[in-house]
Parts: sequence; C-alpha cells; structure tokens
Amino acid sequence: MKVIALNGSPHKSGNTAYALGVVGKALQAEGIEFEIVEIGGNRIHGCIACGKCGEREDGKCAITNDIVNEVLPKMKAADGIIIGSPVYYSGIAGTMKCFLDRTFYVASANGGWFRHKVGASVVAVRRTGGSMTFNALNHYLTVSEMLVPTANYWNVIHGRAPGEAAQDAEGNQIMQLLGKNMAWMLKMREQGKGIEPKGEEKVFMSFIR
Ligand SMILES: Cc1cc2nc3c(=O)[nH]c(=O)nc-3n(C[C@H](O)[C@H](O)[C@H](O)COP(=O)(O)O)c2cc1C
Repeated sequence: MKVIALNGSPHKSGNTAYALGVVGKALQAEGIEFEIVEIGGNRIHGCIACGKCGEREDGKCAITNDIVNEVLPKMKAADGIIIGSPVYYSGIAGTMKCFLDRTFYVASANGGWFRHKVGASVVAVRRTGGSMTFNALNHYLTVSEMLVPTANYWNVIHGRAPGEAAQDAEGNQIMQLLGKNMAWMLKMREQGKGIEPKGEEKVFMSFIR
C-alpha cells in the first residue's frame, strides 16, 4: 500500500514538510510506502473552467505546461493521499489551491478516482487560520467520497520559520496519531475490498428554473 503526500509549501524543508514527514514515519512503521511530492514551489495555473477534462475523459487537464498531469497518475495509483498546506492569509496557499482545484476536478470528471481512497489534510501555521485551512482542505476529500482518518485534535502544527514545528509537542503527537490511524484505516480498507457500496450517478440541483 502506498500513500503520497502533497507538500503545498514552497519550502521543501519547512513546517508542512516536517508535519508530513511525521505522519509518513508512522505510516512506514506500519509497512506502508510513503512519498512526498513537492507542489508549492512550482508554477501552477489556476483552473480555467474549460470543462475539457470532463469532455475528453482522458484523465488529463487541458493545461499542459505544468506538473498537474505528471502528478495526477501518482494520485490515481495511490491508496492514500495527504494534502498539506501552510496557512496563507487564513487559507490554503495559492499554488496549492490551484493544484487541488485542477487535480480533484479531473479526478471527479473522469469517474471519481479518489472515491474510497484514504485522504487526510495537514496544515502548518504560525498563529491563526489553522482550523479554517484544515476545513478548506477537507472539502476536497469529503466531496470525493474519501475515507478520512482523524487524530486527537485537528491536524494543525504550529511554527513560523522552517523547522520550528519540531518544537510543537502537541502538533507532533497529532501527526503521529494521524499516521497510525491512517495506516489502520488503509488496512481495514484492504479487508473491505469487494464489499464496498456502489457509487451513484451524481444528482445536480442548482436551484435554477
Ligand atoms: C504569504 C504568507 C501568508 C501567511 N499567512 C499566515 C496567516 O494567515 N496566519 C498565520 O498564522 N501564519 C501565516 N503565515 C505563516 C505560515 O503559515 C507559517 O510560517 C508556516 O509555518 C509556513 O509553513 P512552511 O514552512 O511549510 O512554508 C503566512 C506566511 C506567508 C508566506
């Protein structure tokens, strides 16, 4: 089983990466493969709402000059996905938001790739906006019918300069527990293969006459 973690920070060794690493160690201790993919340091365009991913159903985004189409197959192949972001102005860091809008839209428009994968959100913050960003990230997971493991608090770690999050003892415990619970959920998911509820055709109701 494999989990990929998407680092939405431009810092490869920053606090988001640190938190993802703590979750990853707990996963690896349970025999689960773990890889961090760098997202935040790239140039990534926002979704242009062209709808081509749904029209073509080729599993690709129509914007082809960035990493989105390279990372999509990795996300599709993984058993679990962790989406990590630093807090920028009490929300998801902009580059990561662009990436998530496009990848989750392609996945949904091509048959719901992420349905019943295990998905978790992780946030790094200096002071305020952690829960709001955690909620915003969770929207991608829950609309995709992903299985979402929890910890003993919301998945937020505190620190400002890269590396400071190592000092947040409570945040470290949260990330470690998240990894353990995610590993257990992945194993339960394996046991449940073949008896999953069937997906349903989406009902759209836009309140337009
Ligand atoms: C553009 C920008 C906006 C930020 N906005 C906030 C904020 O709203 N609240 C906060 O507590 N910290 C804010 N921060 C601080 C980062 O969330 C914090 O330093 C975090 O640990 C960075 O994670 P990283 O090392 O993974 O990049 C901001 C940082 C930047 C660069």
